[in-house]
Amino acid sequence: MQTLHTIRELRERLDQAPARPVFVPTMGNLHEGHLALVRQAREVAAARGAPVVASIFVNRLQFGPNEDFDTYPRTLERDAQLLAQAGCDVLFAPSEAELYPQPQGYKVVAPAELGDILEGAFRPGFFTGVCTVVHKLFNIVQPGAAIFGKKDYQQLMVLRNMVRQMGLPIEVLGGETLRADDGLALSSRNGYLSPAERAEAVQLSATLRRVQETVVAQRAAGGLSVDSLALLEQQAMATLASRGWKPDYVLVRRQQDLLVPSADDIARQQPLVALTAARLGTTRLIDNLEL
Ligand code: PAF
Repeated sequence: MQTLHTIRELRERLDQAPARPVFVPTMGNLHEGHLALVRQAREVAAARGAPVVASIFVNRLQFGPNEDFDTYPRTLERDAQLLAQAGCDVLFAPSEAELYPQPQGYKVVAPAELGDILEGAFRPGFFTGVCTVVHKLFNIVQPGAAIFGKKDYQQLMVLRNMVRQMGLPIEVLGGETLRADDGLALSSRNGYLSPAERAEAVQLSATLRRVQETVVAQRAAGGLSVDSLALLEQQAMATLASRGWKPDYVLVRRQQDLLVPSADDIARQQPLVALTAARLGTTRLIDNLEL
């Protein structure tokens, strides 16, 4: 695997490739979830004779003023070894000066109905930061396909819609969420948890599983409704709060657009997804489960 730090080096390398790369953008501090995306990229790339490119860039633009940009773990050497083992061909790891030589004045803003809800409501500017850097990385890497984890469910949808609306010739693929044995979704931020918090953290996915089980049972019994969903969301929030969490949201939304399901959606058994974000101590975790 080659590690390249400049856009020029990367373009020179990729101009010689027989097909447009399959791309896995990351912020580093990699875990098995990222490596599964790289292995998925390897399979897609093999069928096309394309190289696999991963990027590592901790993107200042997507962090709020009180978030963890400064403390976000930078573990480039270890990450490069893991990527090489997982079958990555090229690691693009630009400096901030390389990617943002001037303050980034031009930005890509997601439409409010998708970008300002859920994560966007609690992290203002987050999706503008994500869309702007991913659009820029897409221009630099010019991939044929890009893979993002379904753990960041809304991010995947925002980026898929961005690619569609901007007419970018890129296939956006989702990678399944990897979980620890107890159900906790793998995340770079799990590393912030103390041992006691790590033991408690399982409650986030357990809460989503209880929502899932109740929705399935209510569906089967014909008792699922707009009101029963709202009650379920409130109960899930209250349970987390009673255990010492500070939940931002536990919400059940339509899979297709993350809008609130109507009575008609419920009657038609439209696919739903339960999404949550909650703070345990100083660590904010997110998770989701398709219903
Ligand atoms: O999911 C992430 O790691 C980041 O949001 C991404 C997509 C690499 C953009 O910085």
